[in-house]
Amino acid sequence: MSGLEDRISLRGLVLSDAATMAQWAADPEFCRAAGWSTDLEPRAHLEFQRKIVLDPPAGLVRLGAEFAGGLVGYVDLHGSEPRRRELGFLIGERRLWGRGLGRRAAAAALGHGFVRMGLDEIWAEALEANAGSMRILLGLGFRSTGTGDTDEYLGVPGVYRRFALSAGEWAAGDRDIAGVPMMEEPNVRRQQGKT
Ligand SMILES: CC(C)(COP(=O)(O)OP(=O)(O)OC[C@H]1O[C@@H](n2cnc3c(N)ncnc32)[C@H](O)[C@@H]1OP(=O)(O)O)[C@@H](O)C(=O)NCCC(=O)NCCS
Repeated sequence: MSGLEDRISLRGLVLSDAATMAQWAADPEFCRAAGWSTDLEPRAHLEFQRKIVLDPPAGLVRLGAEFAGGLVGYVDLHGSEPRRRELGFLIGERRLWGRGLGRRAAAAALGHGFVRMGLDEIWAEALEANAGSMRILLGLGFRSTGTGDTDEYLGVPGVYRRFALSAGEWAAGDRDIAGVPMMEEPNVRRQQGKT
């Protein structure tokens, strides 16, 4: 594993990524934290991921997060509003958690959303018990906008905290903390077709 001087880069997903992503589902602890099904056969996870890569749901822009030559997670910019999307992010192997990858991937997604997609606002929500996600959003300058539904995170009931960040706030902020990495040829054409 390389050090964090290796930057996270975002790219469009390719079919071979489906196997990597499906493999993350072999870890039930990861599944519980990420809200993935724990009762699916490996083949079902693979089929699910292949479908997401080949035929993503309308409004979903999902980019692979690549680090040190491998796919380590993904970020989502999701929604049907023309210039506003919901941010999601995930690091697929728990052994990689706590090393700054989640924050860097989320930061890169903001760069993609505001610069490449020309969004006006990105919003996100996190269950309050999901400390990593909450810290990432607050650390990236998101402001609190209220609460959403209630749910459980790893068995802890709680409410979704909602956040938003405008393009202006993002541009004015200190983005150097995570660096907005170079993008490696994300599939911009397909994404534009979806917006
Ligand atoms: C949330 C997630 C992306 C965090 O990834 P990560 O690579 O561990 O994140 P980072 O290493 O960048 O950590 C970011 C911050 O959260 C903190 N953090 C991470 N996990 C934590 C935990 N379990 N408890 C407390 N703090 C935690 C880190 O210390 C760091 O804090 P800092 O900003 O003060 O340094 C990862 O745990 C994950 O993929 N979870 C499943 C999917 C998910 O919940 N996604 C978010 C909702 S969209």
